[in-house]
Amino acid sequence: MSLFITFEGGEGSGKSSQARALYRRLNTLAIAALLTHEPGVTRLGKRLTRLLKWAKDTDISPAAELLLFNASRAQLIAEVVKPALAEGKIVVCDRYYDSTTAYQGYGRGLDMNAVKAANATGSLGLKPSLTILLDIPVEEGLARKKGSKDRFEQEDIAFHNRVREGYLKLAKDEPQRWLVIDSRQSKTKIAQIIWQRVTELIKKR
Ligand SMILES: Nc1ncnc2c1ncn2[C@@H]1O[C@H](COP(=O)(O)OP(=O)(O)OP(=O)(O)O)[C@@H](O)[C@H]1O
Ligand SMILES: [Mg+2]
Repeated sequence: MSLFITFEGGEGSGKSSQARALYRRLNTLAIAALLTHEPGVTRLGKRLTRLLKWAKDTDISPAAELLLFNASRAQLIAEVVKPALAEGKIVVCDRYYDSTTAYQGYGRGLDMNAVKAANATGSLGLKPSLTILLDIPVEEGLARKKGSKDRFEQEDIAFHNRVREGYLKLAKDEPQRWLVIDSRQSKTKIAQIIWQRVTELIKKR
């Protein structure tokens, strides 16, 4: 049986580092796995990412943003994730629909029913087996990041705090699906905590 594992958290919380570490560990153990991320990966997703993250001369309203993320998601799920799951792989995805709930719902303040409906369409109804929330105070996460700032990194601290609180609420509302980790711990320690939970899931499947 396949597993779909997603990583969530604010800016610089360590999602990409931990998704990679988990994928490498699965590979080392010769467990069939696929590493992917949102938005992007597919041809459509890459084009939409350029707009969603880097558009300077294009206004994107909150509702348009909600739908563009979900357009990219629908393509990724159909083209990449579902086929890999059908082959019995463990799919590790860096961000998924909870990012949309946190950023466009809690961050931008869009109506939650609209967010849920768009996410249901964009995900083709696919729910993660496990979602890992890497939680870190907003300023510490942002301070970890180097290089140019995308549209989201340029938002103010209040926005990022709404995102963080939104994530924590999502995790609290659905504790079986979420594993919340204090991301101020070392990368090695975090990877250990994640691996412990993933091995439990692998044994059960
Ligand atoms: N536990 C940790 N302790 C200290 N630094 C870390 C930790 N995890 C990741 N980092 C560092 O913080 C930076 C951001 O990490 P990473 O890119 O994995 O985060 P992210 O959540 O994917 O960020 P983004 O929001 O840009 O996608 C990197 O330089 C990474 O090496
Ligand atoms: Mg990342």
